[in-house]
Amino acid sequence: MMDIGRLAKEQEAYVIEARHYLHSHPEVGCEEVNTTRYICEELTKMGVEVQTFEGITGCVGTIEGARPGKTVMLRADIDALPIEEQPGKSYCSQNPGVMHACGHDCHTAMLLGAARILASHREEICGTVKLIFQMGEEIGRKSEEYVKRGALEGVDAIFGMHVWSSLDTGTANFQEGERMACSDRFTIRVRGKKSHGSAPHEGNDAILAAAAVVMALQSIPSREISPLDSLVVTVGMMNGGTKENILADETELVGTVRVFDRAFRKSMPERIRRLASQVAGGYGCSVDCDYYFGPSPLINDHENLNRLAAQAAREELGENCLRSLPKVTGAEDFSVYMEHIPGVFGYLGVRNREKGIVCTHHHPAFDVDEEALYHGTGIYVRFALGFLNS
Ligand code: NI
Repeated sequence: MMDIGRLAKEQEAYVIEARHYLHSHPEVGCEEVNTTRYICEELTKMGVEVQTFEGITGCVGTIEGARPGKTVMLRADIDALPIEEQPGKSYCSQNPGVMHACGHDCHTAMLLGAARILASHREEICGTVKLIFQMGEEIGRKSEEYVKRGALEGVDAIFGMHVWSSLDTGTANFQEGERMACSDRFTIRVRGKKSHGSAPHEGNDAILAAAAVVMALQSIPSREISPLDSLVVTVGMMNGGTKENILADETELVGTVRVFDRAFRKSMPERIRRLASQVAGGYGCSVDCDYYFGPSPLINDHENLNRLAAQAAREELGENCLRSLPKVTGAEDFSVYMEHIPGVFGYLGVRNREKGIVCTHHHPAFDVDEEALYHGTGIYVRFALGFLNS
């Protein structure tokens, strides 16, 4: 029987060293060339078979157990952010303007640690463990690129977690139900008719109509979805017009939609189109609408996987380690895998107030309490074995 607590602790120095290397050599989403090379080299050193994919960064490692069984996939994202790191750490970013400010360096390092444990215990594994090191999490739906290339074929379940700055070291969150929202984008082009700004009755003002559309869109959260459900509609860009005394004949609105309810989300393009066309129509203008479905809502709705993930965390961090966290309107493209196969996603605490490690994700001074990292390794291993043995 594997003593995972001890094995994970034995990987602590390796995991921290890997994290420091990755932290000091960050690369932004979909440009993780050196990062991918490093991961492939590490996996190869462990004797793990590595697969890379045409046209994209990231890779998948495969560890086949000595005995047949199911296949489980463990996921880490590998990308950094276009943020200038606040100096101070010995392992500070050496790539100006780029920083691992979300902790994906930790995910990668923790999963490499798990790979070392699993690869050296194949004789005790029934089934196969796949490790996906995924590019471009910060960008949108890049996880889909691996799905398109067949990475999920034969995989029975997938597990992912994120280090989390609002949870203390030693705690974790694996909670059922709605966890993160979708992140969709819409564009509305309002078209009117130009005229001189001093004679607006001779044209149709696309700016005035677009302003009315912006106001009307807020009736979707307030009047169309149940008051017990959450929905955000934000127009973040409004572009139109050429000069102060010319009536604009075109104005473009670009916005984001965040919602948890899958059916309501599917109805959003039609709701936006109906409202925008009728409101703008009242001003004599017409509209074109585009809707782009980004990462879907992340909902932990597989009872068995929820139980195994919570159990992995409790075995690693102690019986009372689990904390509840409210769902968030941020998004995570792990949800794209869950459109295809069962999955579960949770959070690992890395905050330590005594050490002053309190910055939130995407902050230029973001850091984690590295004492938490080998526990992440342990949770990955425990979930994989728990699933394969269940
Ligand atoms: Ni992140």
